[in-house]
Amino acid sequence: MKQMSPIVHRASAPDDTAGGGADTPIAEAAASFDLNKELLASQGFFTPQGPSSRLALELRAIKRRLLRRLDYKKRGQRRRPASGASRKRPRNLIMVTSTRPAEGKTFTSINLALSLAIEDNIGTVLVDADAPRPKVMKHFGLDAGGMGFTDLLARPSDVHVREALRREHTHKLALIGEGTERARSTELYSRDEAGVFLKDLSARFPDRLIILDAPPVLATPEAALLAPHVDEIIFVVEANETPEPAVATAIDELLDANDRISLVLNRALVAENVIHYGSYDEYYDKADRD
Ligand SMILES: Nc1ncnc2c1ncn2[C@@H]1O[C@H](COP(=O)(O)OP(=O)(O)O)[C@@H](O)[C@H]1O
Ligand SMILES: [Mg+2]
Repeated sequence: MKQMSPIVHRASAPDDTAGGGADTPIAEAAASFDLNKELLASQGFFTPQGPSSRLALELRAIKRRLLRRLDYKKRGQRRRPASGASRKRPRNLIMVTSTRPAEGKTFTSINLALSLAIEDNIGTVLVDADAPRPKVMKHFGLDAGGMGFTDLLARPSDVHVREALRREHTHKLALIGEGTERARSTELYSRDEAGVFLKDLSARFPDRLIILDAPPVLATPEAALLAPHVDEIIFVVEANETPEPAVATAIDELLDANDRISLVLNRALVAENVIHYGSYDEYYDKADRD
């Protein structure tokens, strides 16, 4: 996943305004920003102006699979005749993790959030949940200070989500940074309130996909603590780099909490990607076989 990629099409008319619909608090976000496309492009991220690229193709494959697994349908198609107790919160919580640091979690999270919002017109909220090594805001050229995910976990009743939310002006993309309580992340992620908060976040943005850029599984307990609360896990494997036993250990740890795991092979040759992605899926992807 190396080059920039283009905007290909808008899949359909927007199902809410660029910043979000009236039924979400996106429009009330305390802060807003413009995509710094040059900065993103210089770091190799998906941008609308780039030519058709391998990155765009790979992202499309990952998105197709993710949307299928989430049973995601656009507004209009999605509304089911559910009411009262039968109404469920949307399946829109996605955690991106990996075995170790520097395998491409943030790269994958940002590219997914950007390309879903820009190419598919599917709203995303990208959350920097990697409190030990937060990088999302820096990649967007934004100030990482201020309220963020760890503050929302620490004081869900005091700090409103909108105070931590930064919405992009033109595209259906919003960001939540790491926040100011990073040092307490293990404690905060392990509290029962973390699960309650994530369900609340999911319900606040029913038309958006919420992407949590999480820490790696083997370095700290945070990813395993978040795992039971999310709907899908994208597990990034660095092709030809991550030792297989370490990958197996990390995935085993996640499977104890959540078996909805898809593997994404980062920095792989296309041919290898196809072979490895398929074989790993077959082996680990229990949920898909059910
Ligand atoms: N497929 C890729 N192509 C180009 N650069 C990449 C790719 N994957 C990761 N990188 C870069 O490698 C570095 C580490 O990746 P990152 O996503 O930050 O790792 P992690 O979040 O897993 O710690 C970053 O500078 C990132 O932009
Ligand atoms: Mg990262």
